[in-house]
Amino acid sequence: MSFRTIIEPFRIHSVQSLRMPSEEEREAALQRAGLNLFGLHAEEVVIDLLTDSGTGAMSAKQWAGMLDGDESYAGARSFYRFQDAVQDLTGYAEVIPTHQGRAAERILFQTLLQPGQCVPNNTHFDTTRANIEVTRAEALDLGIAEGRDPALLHPFKGNVDLAALERVLEQRGRARVPLVMTTVTNNSGGGQPVSLENLRGVSALCKRYGVPFFLDACRFAENAWFVKQREPGQAQRSVKEIAQEMFSLADGCTMSAKKDGLANMGGFLAMNDGELAQRCRNLLILTEGFPTYGGLAGYDLEAIAQGLKEVVDEDYLRYRIRSVAYLAEKVNAAGVPTLQPPGGHAVYLDGKALLSHLPPSRYPAQALAIALYRSGGVRGCEIGSVMFGKALPDGGEQPAAMELVRLAFPRRTYTQSHVDYVAEVVIEVAARARELRGLRIASAPPWLRHFTARFEEL
Ligand code: F0G
Repeated sequence: MSFRTIIEPFRIHSVQSLRMPSEEEREAALQRAGLNLFGLHAEEVVIDLLTDSGTGAMSAKQWAGMLDGDESYAGARSFYRFQDAVQDLTGYAEVIPTHQGRAAERILFQTLLQPGQCVPNNTHFDTTRANIEVTRAEALDLGIAEGRDPALLHPFKGNVDLAALERVLEQRGRARVPLVMTTVTNNSGGGQPVSLENLRGVSALCKRYGVPFFLDACRFAENAWFVKQREPGQAQRSVKEIAQEMFSLADGCTMSAKKDGLANMGGFLAMNDGELAQRCRNLLILTEGFPTYGGLAGYDLEAIAQGLKEVVDEDYLRYRIRSVAYLAEKVNAAGVPTLQPPGGHAVYLDGKALLSHLPPSRYPAQALAIALYRSGGVRGCEIGSVMFGKALPDGGEQPAAMELVRLAFPRRTYTQSHVDYVAEVVIEVAARARELRGLRIASAPPWLRHFTARFEEL
């Protein structure tokens, strides 16, 4: 007998209570935060879908591993457990722990990049882009055109446009393209997967032009699950085998263990090139720590080592991907447009379609995110022109390709009734989306402005 309902493949072992802030409390919080949801106290939020990064629940085995953490400065047992887990999965010879993904990015880019060079990717995540731009190199997004049409159905919208990549490699050559990346799944493009076939294509082009290829591997397990479900010929393989093939096609990776490491903190940089790894370690020691801890405690290394084993569990991934699709299907059934198909870690509401009365300069997705918090205490994250708008020389702004509100699911944290509640809030707000007014930016820093900008309602 097989039943339809896909259940959470765990039972709850310890709980944290949720606060239920009143409408007045939420309004006061919004005003204090300058209408920036990053400025809220987490206790002012009912369901927190700001990010799936470091916000998940760890397993009893991870907590047990933490108690057994070896906090030796150099050569801790926990480092070797961590290194074994990373190598078992990725096959890379060199494993460099970092305090989170962006530290791995910074170390890799500052070691490899010169001003004027460029790094192609399907879509750079904001920290990746910023860490490239701060070296005065260019972060190039070369995702397939299908990936920019939110309503279009395509199994691998995270794929790289191979023809565009080849043009860049041909025109600029190895001297100006010291590195190619692919983000799995493509977070900024909607949590969409990249096919093995496409990764093979990127890998072959990089080999032909002699350019190293790195994965931004934060959500490698979710990507491998989609490959198993969607790519012809992959259904019989295990997710772990697929993930291993993904890593084998690249020369290295940056990783935030706060996602598919199932940990609350941590990351790594891994690669095959021993000489490059040595240069990266030199920088690591300067700012992160000794190469066997890289800014992490021994107990963090234990949590990641165990998390990397648990994340390729297929019952977990089936439930994980299904719970995201469940929210998308519920709100779609009520006519709310979302990026299609739903991503691995998040549902992306289509702010451009829902608030078509507002131009990008009024930040429709930010207005939608604020309305969700105001109405039901649900915190999502704008992924639109606040995050990715580009200043133009004339003082204006080039808008982002899409205006999305990401509702990202912390791993193993919320139950189906939490998701039902979120659906209700989304549907209620969507029904009066036309009444929402836009925003203007009152103040913003020069980089990564979405974290600290303040807004005013028009
Ligand atoms: N790359 C991708 C694709 C990411 O999604 C993130 C983080 C990073 C790199 C950086 O990792 O946070 O450990 O430094 N994404 C989080 C998010 C913050 O909410 O999507 P980090």
